[in-house]
Amino acid sequence: MKILFIGDVMSSIGRDMVEDYLYRIKQQYQIDFVIANVENASHGKGLLKKHYEFFVFQGVQAMTMGNHTFDKKEIFDYIDEANRLIVPMNQPRALPGTKSRVFDCLGKKIRITSVLGSAFMDTRNGSPFEMIDDYLDLEHDIHIIDYHGEATSEKVVFAHYVKDKVQAVLGTHTHVQTADEKIIDGKCAFISDVGMTGPYRSAIGCDIDSVITRMKGFHAPFIIAESSGQLCAVVLTFEDNKVVDIERIMINEDHSF
Ligand SMILES: [Fe+2]
Repeated sequence: MKILFIGDVMSSIGRDMVEDYLYRIKQQYQIDFVIANVENASHGKGLLKKHYEFFVFQGVQAMTMGNHTFDKKEIFDYIDEANRLIVPMNQPRALPGTKSRVFDCLGKKIRITSVLGSAFMDTRNGSPFEMIDDYLDLEHDIHIIDYHGEATSEKVVFAHYVKDKVQAVLGTHTHVQTADEKIIDGKCAFISDVGMTGPYRSAIGCDIDSVITRMKGFHAPFIIAESSGQLCAVVLTFEDNKVVDIERIMINEDHSF
């Protein structure tokens, strides 16, 4: 079984990359199940209902979120019916959404859980290390965690914490793909960050000039960069319930598919 995980889809440029390449990737890698992090899919922050439906139409079977889950307020209107959506399990308790879901694929029960990191993130979130314990011994054959956080070291440590009970810890949020993919102790696929699917010539998706202006101390809004697109993803290969390979995909004007 092969599972594709697409890194943070950002804006219309990221959605266009999914539309342009997902079918071809599925054919080339013989993908059986598709997951995408979509917390930046609508204008860089949040997820409008029409874009949730776009991903359903494209064949994305599970969608994970992150720190921008509720930035588009209309999500409160459709989140209860969005049965492919997974929100962070350690977000503040008053917020709605399903924090861990099981999907059926080729007779296997695939659990997908979303986790927010703690370092340099919103301090209102609960500890990922304390709260993940409630999800490790539930019913499933394969458990994949989207670890949405800033710090690579925290992601590495978390993966080692859960490696005996989880088949993959895939980092998201930084928008920069890392080259540290591995199978930890032959048990748990890991990468610090899958990378961004969005504007390639950008500061993690934002217009570079506007970010320079901010870094010089002036006020400037974050503007989505107008650029050619990039798609970042990983392919996980399973033999029965065991993960045996993790392979990076990066497609942009410097890395052709
Ligand atoms: Fe994020």
